[in-house]
Amino acid sequence: MASESDLMEKIVSLCKRRGFIFPGSEIYGGYAGFWDYGPFGVELKNNVKQLWWRTFVQGRDDMVGVDAAIIMQPKAWEASGHVSGFSDPLVECKKCHHRFRADQVGDKCPDCTGEFGPVRQFNMMFKTEVGATEDATSVSYLRPETAGGIFMNFKNIVDTIHPKLPFGIAQIGKAFRNEIAPRDFIFRSREFEQMEVEYFVREGEWRQYFDEWQKLQLEFADMIGLERSRIHQIEVAAEDRAHYSKHSVDTEFDFPFGQKELWGLAYRTDFDLSAHQKTSGQNLAMQDKEGEPAIIPHVVEPTFGVDRTILAILSSAYTEDELGGEKRVYLRFPSAIAPVKAAVFPLLKNKPELVAKAREIYSMLKKEIPQVMWDDNGNIGKRYRRQDEIGTPYCITVDFDTLGEKPELKDTVTLRDRDTGEQKRVNIEELVSMIR
Ligand code: GAP
Repeated sequence: MASESDLMEKIVSLCKRRGFIFPGSEIYGGYAGFWDYGPFGVELKNNVKQLWWRTFVQGRDDMVGVDAAIIMQPKAWEASGHVSGFSDPLVECKKCHHRFRADQVGDKCPDCTGEFGPVRQFNMMFKTEVGATEDATSVSYLRPETAGGIFMNFKNIVDTIHPKLPFGIAQIGKAFRNEIAPRDFIFRSREFEQMEVEYFVREGEWRQYFDEWQKLQLEFADMIGLERSRIHQIEVAAEDRAHYSKHSVDTEFDFPFGQKELWGLAYRTDFDLSAHQKTSGQNLAMQDKEGEPAIIPHVVEPTFGVDRTILAILSSAYTEDELGGEKRVYLRFPSAIAPVKAAVFPLLKNKPELVAKAREIYSMLKKEIPQVMWDDNGNIGKRYRRQDEIGTPYCITVDFDTLGEKPELKDTVTLRDRDTGEQKRVNIEELVSMIR
């Protein structure tokens, strides 16, 4: 296995070489903190988001989803405390004027050893202007968390769906933060995605649901193949908690560059709904029980960064071993999230009858399992390596026996397992169920 220090480099290079993740705006030299997902990356990411949505929204009776606008009325971000308090400490070198996050740098400028000026708070929200008039009233923000759009729609959900407590609203979408120091590939970027739940509960019951969501986060880690030994759930100290949280537990992961926050879980109390009620003048209380006064529910918030999840999956899945006396690299993705579930090869490219049979099998599979791939380029060994590198769990080879050269093997193919390299003959009819 690669040493921890160069493992990250290997992952970044594989991601670029095989079309998972590219530097943003690369033909212009890149753009710090922005990344683009390529053909296999977007499949992997969509699989993770779909698995999350199926698990936490469609698979439950107490959850609904929303897809809210990224830009919201700026008053909402004043009410939520983000305009005044969503900042990181910033220092600027007096000599070269380079800027750093004060909590991530020593006493002297790492670029020129100059002295730093005083620490000041740097607001991380990206500002933009809405409409044709450019003045103070047109300033708005790209959302720094998807949670905001959920709180915006709390009243809409209560008035249309009439849920009873406890219930949750989920959203998957982009969030933007003008990070002072984006770093560690997609770990800390300026544009990223979040999968968030605001779970509304009665005040006295928050602890029970907090503990439940903490367990559910561990279970989701299992589903995407993150080893338990690399996961650490750590209570966040009061001074490190977000301004809205009364209790937080971070799910940390052993990334190649150290143990760092993967996901969060916070008890946000009634902070947001009460603040929005006050600022908007709208009544955000809901009728929970007949005959009792309406209440503003409290909130438990599990949050999952999509990109950090992808990085944790890639770090877990990256494996180097030796197979048949040859070194290889493969991504050990669980089948449920693998970007390609199976690849179909004709043994030889220049035998029309083999190619036709392989095409027939490929088309049949593709109807049932869209994430299958065709490859007829180069020798079979090379094709296996290519699929191993993108984490394809199964390779299917169509050969002369499939066509009936050995009559007892007619209509069978070889199915090769990514992790063990073992091959077995299976009936074409069994393929769909075996891959699934
Ligand atoms: N709504 C709560 C919230 O936004 P957070 O801890 O600030 O809490 C939640 O962010 C998650 O979003 C983090 O646990 C992480 O997975 C992801 N995240 C935060 N900042 C990020 C960044 N700059 N780049 C990539 N992911 C980030």
